[in-house]
Amino acid sequence: MTDRARRDMTVLTLRAPNGITVRLTNLGATLMGIETPDRAGRFANIMLGYADPADYPAAGGPDPDAYLGATCGRYANRIAGATFMLDGVRYQLSANEAPNHLHGGERNFHEVIWQIVVADDRRVVLSHHSPDGDQGYPGALDAVATFTLGDDGELAIVYTATTTRPTHVNLVSHGYFNLSGDPRTSTLDHRLWIDAAEILPIDAAGLPTGERRAIAGSAFDFTVPRMIGSRIDDDPQAQGGQGYNHNYVLGGAGVREVARLEHPISGRSLAVSTDQPGLQLYSGDFLGGSFAPRSGICLEAQHWPDSPNRADFPSTRLDPGATYRSETRLRFGLS
Ligand code: BGC
Repeated sequence: MTDRARRDMTVLTLRAPNGITVRLTNLGATLMGIETPDRAGRFANIMLGYADPADYPAAGGPDPDAYLGATCGRYANRIAGATFMLDGVRYQLSANEAPNHLHGGERNFHEVIWQIVVADDRRVVLSHHSPDGDQGYPGALDAVATFTLGDDGELAIVYTATTTRPTHVNLVSHGYFNLSGDPRTSTLDHRLWIDAAEILPIDAAGLPTGERRAIAGSAFDFTVPRMIGSRIDDDPQAQGGQGYNHNYVLGGAGVREVARLEHPISGRSLAVSTDQPGLQLYSGDFLGGSFAPRSGICLEAQHWPDSPNRADFPSTRLDPGATYRSETRLRFGLS
C-alpha cells in the first residue's frame, strides 16, 4: 500500500436516533463495527474488526484471508480453476487460492481505497473503478456501494455496477457477527434460522460440486431455529474443522427476510433480508489471526459460487447498458 493510499484511509460513522452506530472505512468499503444494545440497553460492537483501518491486512495488518467486514469483488467466493468462458473466449483470473479464484483475486476490492461520494451521518456512498482486465476480468467495471442507516437502525447495503464489456459480477459484504459483543467468545451459542431447503455441497477446495442437496432434517437444516453449535460437527460436509461454509439456495424473489441470528444470553438479534439467490453460511472456521475460529458468523447474501462455470446456476453475467444491483438489509433487534 502506498503512503498516499494510507493517507486516504478514512473512518466514516453512521448514527441512528436509537443509538445504533455503524463504522465503515473506504479501505475495501469495509464495515468495521456496528454497536447495538443488549436487552439491558448496553451497547457493544457485534462485528469482528479493528478500530483503525491501518490494522486491516491491506494496510499491513494480520488476518489476510479473513476479509473482515470487507466488500468482496468482483466475484465473491470461488471460481474453479480461476477461469471461465464468456462468449467463446476463455478468461484467466488471478489464482489467489491456487488453482482457484477467491473473492476477486490477488488485488481485489477489499484491498483498494474506494472514492467517497457521499458521507453524512445516515448514508455513505463509495465508488470504485476497476479497469478492463483487472484480475483477469473483461470489461471496465464501475462499482458503487451505498450504506444507509434507517431511523430504526436498519442498515441497507446496496451494490450497483456497470461494465464496458460483458463480464461477471457478484459483490458481497463479508461481515462476521458475534452478537454477544465479545469477540473472544464462540458463536456456537447463537440461534440461527435460515429460510432455505437446499444447500450446494462443496468439495475439498470449497467449490460447489454442482449438486443441489435437500437438507430437511440434516445438520444444515435451520428452517426450525436452533443453536449453531448443536450439530455443526455431525455432517461429513461440515467435518474436519471446516464447519459450515456453504451456499444456501434461497427461494422467492425481491427483498425478503432469509435469515435470523439470535444470541439468547444478551438478547441481541440480527435479521437479514436480501434480494439475492444465495446465502453463504460461514462459521469462521478458518479464522486464526486476531480472532479464534468460530468467533464470528458470516451470513453472506450473494450469487452462488462458481456461477460463471455453471450454466444451471442463476447467471452472474453483466452486459454493457445493464446495471447489476444487489440489496441486503440488516435489522438489529432484541429477541
Ligand atoms: C468463504 C470461506 C473463506 C472465507 C474467508 C467465505 O466467504 O466461504 O471459504 O475462507 O470467506 O475468505
